[in-house]
This record gives sequence, C-alpha cells and structure tokens, in this order.
Amino acid sequence: LAPNFYQRKLAEGRAILAPMAGFTDAPFRRLCREYGSAWAVTEMVSAKGVLYNPQRSFEIGEPYPDEPDLVIQIFGGDPAEVAAGAHALYQRYRPQAIDLNMGCPVKKVTGKSCGAKLMLEPDRAAKIIRAMAAALPIPVSAKLRLGYDRVNVLEVAQALEAAGASLIAVHGRTAAQKYTGEANWEMICALAERLSIPVVGSGDVATRAQFVRYRELGLGVMVARAAIGRPWLFAELMGQPAPSEAEKAQLAFRHALDHVAWYQAQQGASETQLVQKFRGQLLRYFAGYPAYRPRLCRVASLSELADLIDAMVGVDISKANRRSGRRTNNGEVAQAGAALRG
Ligand SMILES: Cc1cc2nc3c(=O)[nH]c(=O)nc-3n(C[C@H](O)[C@H](O)[C@H](O)COP(=O)(O)O)c2cc1C
Repeated sequence: LAPNFYQRKLAEGRAILAPMAGFTDAPFRRLCREYGSAWAVTEMVSAKGVLYNPQRSFEIGEPYPDEPDLVIQIFGGDPAEVAAGAHALYQRYRPQAIDLNMGCPVKKVTGKSCGAKLMLEPDRAAKIIRAMAAALPIPVSAKLRLGYDRVNVLEVAQALEAAGASLIAVHGRTAAQKYTGEANWEMICALAERLSIPVVGSGDVATRAQFVRYRELGLGVMVARAAIGRPWLFAELMGQPAPSEAEKAQLAFRHALDHVAWYQAQQGASETQLVQKFRGQLLRYFAGYPAYRPRLCRVASLSELADLIDAMVGVDISKANRRSGRRTNNGEVAQAGAALRG
C-alpha cells in the first residue's frame, strides 16, 4: 500500500506546527512552513458552524489558495454532523487530512460532548472517526489529551485506531490539568508502543535536544506555544542556526504585513484594528527588547511599527515595503510582502 499523507510527511523527520486557536491562521502557517514545519493544522473549525453558519465558520480554517500540506481541524460531537462538516470542508479546501479536536478544555467547546469531553466517551469518538473516514477520501486523525480528568488515552486511542484513524496526536496532559505541570512524554511513548498507526506528541517542546530525543523514540513532534513569535524555531529544531536579529525583525514585520493583508481581505477590518490585534504577537517577537514594550503595546499602524523596528533593531524597512494597504485591494500589500521576502 502506498504511504498516506501523514506517513510520507513523518518520514521527513521534521517538527509539526500544532493547532492553536487564535494563532495558526493562514499567514502564520505559511511562515512556519517556510521554516520547515512538516505540515500545518488550522485553528479548530466548528462542524455545526460549517453547516449552519458557513460564512463565518469557513473563514476560520481558510487557507491561502493552493496552500500545501494543509490539515484542517474540526470539532463537534455528533458523528453525522462532524462527517458532513468535514465533507463540506474537504469539498471547499481540498486539505490533505482532517483532524478531530478531542483536547480543547474550554467550556464553550466541551459543553456538548465535544473537544476534550470526547475523552469521556470513547464510543462516541470512535463513531465520529468512523463517520469521517467513510465520508472522506483523505486520512482522518484526532488530537487527544491523556484523558479528561483521569488517564484513559490508551483505551480511547485504540478505539479510534479500530475506527479508521490514520494518526493520533496527544497533548501529554489531562484536560483537567489544562496547561499546568509538565507534559508526560513517557505516557505518549507508551501509547505509541501499543498502536500500529503513528503517534505525534505535543507539549512543552522548545529545544532541539527535546525534539531529537522524542523523534528518536519514534514519535512525531508537535510544537505550539514555543513557535509563537518564533516561526524559525522549526529550522532550529532541524539543527540550523537562528536568524540574525535583523532577519528576525524583518520577519516579524512581514508577519504583521501578511496578517493585516489577510484580515483586511477576509473581514474588511481596518489596519489599526489589525495591528492592535497583532500586538501580543509583536511582544513575543521582540521579547528581547523589554525597554520597548510600552511602545509596542501602543503601536497602531504598520508604518509606526516599521519606525519602531528601526529604533529597536536598526533595521530600515523601506517606504515601499511598509505600505499598509488602506485600500481593499491587497495585491499590492502581498507584493510588498514578497519584496521583503526576496
Ligand atoms: C492559544 C492556544 C490555542 C490552542 N488551540 C488548540 C486547538 O484549536 N486545537 C487543539 O487541538 N489544540 C489546541 N491547543 C493545544 C496545542 O495544540 C498544544 O497541544 C498545547 O499547547 C501543548 O503544546 P505546547 O506546550 O507546545 O504549547 C492550543 C494551545 C494554545 C496555547
């Protein structure tokens, strides 16, 4: 049998950008992929939303045209509904795989047998995976926690494997732990030994030493929080040197530019609103410049950001490249981004 998408990608031995609601949008996915993330998972998209409020819900998982190696994450609790939502996403975006969210501990999501609540209902989770696999011509996967409030990941993962899952990703904490304590990679490893499908671990990876250790144990390795404001981490994990301060600053600016262009086109939001929304990520990019924190917290346009970057890092972002695109035609902004890249 020819290897499926996940098997082919895992064989490359690179780290994978984990899904993060509010972060892993198309611009950020593209950056991480350029630095070597094996594939990239969208923010979670609601199955109900796709079926009943498509305009807004499709937007969340929206890729760039022809975005390569795209995995869309879906959440929901009703097998028929999730399968129909997954099929609609497949028809619209032709992703390489669709992943079921079984890890989100947020009440709004877990309220109705979805997200991490599915860890309490292995039968329901297996029915969802079986329905998805039957509805889709691409691999189906799930991203789990170790359990909801007690560890039962083996039982759940075995049920999903039997139902047709092609890959299991596991965040090494229970949902009750949220993000406290340390992710338990021994348990992830023990799980991988019991399954015949690939297992991808997630939790607290930020260094090459960790990445290499887990990879040598035969696991796929996902990175989430450590990649925020640091998309070049994927290259560092492969043993490449970190970019210079000037390159990092240019990259941060390019991300801001891509972010503004993307959401101006998608939602018609203003540059000011979008730069404001991006400040949190700017603080991560420029964490090494604490004296500039107050100014970063006030930045309200791309041009101001360019001036600030010049003051902070001594990088001159030329007039042609700082164009904000107050206009809705964002072709020019995309071009400015391309000029920066080149
Ligand atoms: C802001 C944020 C949003 C997240 N959103 C999702 C999500 O939509 N789907 C999902 O499966 N996991 C989500 N996660 C969990 C991450 O994918 C990852 O498993 C977790 O953060 C642990 O990895 P890390 O220590 O590398 O951050 C999210 C995590 C964070 C911090």
